[in-house]
Amino acid sequence: MTHRLLPLALLGVLWLVPTRSPAASDLVVADFEGATYGAWTVTGEAFGTGPAQGTLPGQMRVDGFEGKGLVNSFHGGDGTTGTLTSPTFRLERPYLRFLIGGGKDVERTCLKLLIGGKVVRVATGPNDKPGGAETLAPEFWDVTELAGRDAVLQIVDQATGGWGHINVDHIVQTDRRPPGVITNATREFVVRQRYLNLPIRNGAPKRVVTLLADGVTVVRNDVELAPGTPDFWAPMDVGGWRGKTVTLQVDRLPEDSTALSSLVVSDAIQGADDLYREPLRGQFHFSSRRGWNNDPNGLVYFNGEYHLFYQHNPYGWGWGNMHWGHAVSRDLVHWEELGDKLLPDDMGPMFSGSAVVDWNNTSGLGKEGQPPLVLIYTAAGDPTVQGIASSTDGRTFTKYAGNPVLKQITGGNRDPKVLWHEPTKKWVMVLYVTLAGGKHTVHFFTSPNLINWSLASVTEGVAGTPYLYECPDFFELPVDGDATNRKWVLTAANSEYAVGTFDGTTFRPEHSRLPGHRGRGFYAAQTFSDIPAKDGRRIQIGWFQTETKGMPFNQSMTVPLELGLMTTAEGPRMTFAPVRELGVLRSRTHGWPAQNLTAASPNPLAGWQAELVELRAEFEPGDATEVVFGVRGATVAYDVVRQELVVNGHRAPAPLRQGRQALTLLVDRTGLEVFASDGLTYVPMPYQPDARDLSLSVAVRGGTARFNTLTVHELSSAWPKAADSPKGL
Ligand code: FRU
Repeated sequence: MTHRLLPLALLGVLWLVPTRSPAASDLVVADFEGATYGAWTVTGEAFGTGPAQGTLPGQMRVDGFEGKGLVNSFHGGDGTTGTLTSPTFRLERPYLRFLIGGGKDVERTCLKLLIGGKVVRVATGPNDKPGGAETLAPEFWDVTELAGRDAVLQIVDQATGGWGHINVDHIVQTDRRPPGVITNATREFVVRQRYLNLPIRNGAPKRVVTLLADGVTVVRNDVELAPGTPDFWAPMDVGGWRGKTVTLQVDRLPEDSTALSSLVVSDAIQGADDLYREPLRGQFHFSSRRGWNNDPNGLVYFNGEYHLFYQHNPYGWGWGNMHWGHAVSRDLVHWEELGDKLLPDDMGPMFSGSAVVDWNNTSGLGKEGQPPLVLIYTAAGDPTVQGIASSTDGRTFTKYAGNPVLKQITGGNRDPKVLWHEPTKKWVMVLYVTLAGGKHTVHFFTSPNLINWSLASVTEGVAGTPYLYECPDFFELPVDGDATNRKWVLTAANSEYAVGTFDGTTFRPEHSRLPGHRGRGFYAAQTFSDIPAKDGRRIQIGWFQTETKGMPFNQSMTVPLELGLMTTAEGPRMTFAPVRELGVLRSRTHGWPAQNLTAASPNPLAGWQAELVELRAEFEPGDATEVVFGVRGATVAYDVVRQELVVNGHRAPAPLRQGRQALTLLVDRTGLEVFASDGLTYVPMPYQPDARDLSLSVAVRGGTARFNTLTVHELSSAWPKAADSPKGL
């Protein structure tokens, strides 16, 4: 054996020689793995007393560094300054490589190489605009001509505004030229097709990708560009520049990256042959064709269509690059995605907000006989401000030239929800504002025209509890369906709410805060504006945090929920019900006759299978202790003794109503939603059933339960069939 292997081993050594000469070993100048900066000298506050162990408080996630420690001048936030200077060292290799991230300012956030006190090289992070990422990326300097000279490195943070910090790690002298990085690599296109499909790889370093038309930056995003084979393709819509020449520019591209050369120009989304049929695509929950979604935005009914805008990262699987994606539906069930309508601009990324129809054209943004649809959004730059955009056709939106319409109150103020208050004939905006000391408040503003806003009141919380965090919504609901007895409801992102009165200026809650949904993964819900009075419903959609690993999209929306207020012994409480329109999806229905079930009863649902399930049951538990539903591996149990629902182990109060419990279960590929106690209990739950498990069951424990109704509907997909799949056209 040995003699046969020997030549191979020798060959291996010989083969390695040219690339790994032992004489050419790297010299580590600094790896910042110690508890202190050692012989480096610190001035100011920004660098702390030693290397940071990753992300600092209040900072976006820092990655791309090596080992555990790095230089991170975000100590005390962006406001602090300082320098970090190395001891003198000799330049003994032709290349000096390092990792760098943070602010892009060659004077004030940078790494400098000094010889005899003179700056001979300088490098910065990639960020000079709101948004961006804290990822450190490799860079190097060719210092051949400086061989043998004594040098000093200085890391500088003299900036105090946005991106006023610098991250550096792993500074190494080396003989091997690291792969070069091309600055501002470009590719030109004459636009003949709608999309530039960008190759995306999750976790790849973020590059600043800019689209230039006529030399002007029209689109700018931070993109995890795949240097080789992508995880998926993200379409950039260039349809607006048809016939023109546009340039795609990447701020820093490794010279061996195929990102620009592999980019696919097409009228279709690349790799979307199975669009809407992907294994983890919710089949009756909205999700975006590509990229990440969070909050629903701008929910409004206009010209016979429900509009759903949403926080969208078109170019990544994770959060970032906030755009407003756009989809429409005529029935709240079948949605058509139309592309992104609000793109990040000089004022910042487009954070959450709302939409209204300006029926009386108070804003003057309408045309003769055509009231404008007005979007009110947060531009989350520095400062963070509120802006508006309008449309008369519900398709093309124009940002108002006089933006912002509301200046920054305090940093991070956001998520304007606007409504028309008929009694005072004014627009009302609720806005999330953090006051000094981190106090979460809702500020109420009023306006005659959606453009000029004045502060009306500040709600600091209910019964002394500061609580309303992000995404407020504010609307009236009839109590027990009685249109003459209406109450105002203020909700927050986590679905907590307060019920009270409103005089056009001040909201007066009648009790301390109340829990909304009772499940998991539900956030930032919003209700539709302008649903016709004759319909009269208040319909809400929440962000359903259904993580879909391995898919070219991530997250989704809950089903549309009809809200109500129901009188209980404790006062009026909010109720949730899936909208009746979902009934159009029922493809096969089976109802079982009223029956008593005991522990000895066989499973009545045996023999029934379904992938997409709506299960409805109304039962009187009698002396049973538990009623347990099994749906495709999920367990939804009703604990009769504690009057609680237990959904995949998660408990939620669910009182019996007149000795009965009525449950509705909706099960999709990425989550289930359970409604109980006449809507008082709503339990959304991200969950991924095993594709092969189509089983359904009901079992009763401890006694006899009377089932008055038991119905299973198999649902069909709400998405277009493969044959007529729009493929993004
Ligand atoms: C809630 C939220 C909003 C913000 C948006 C940004 O999920 O943080 O407050 O506007 O997301 O995407």
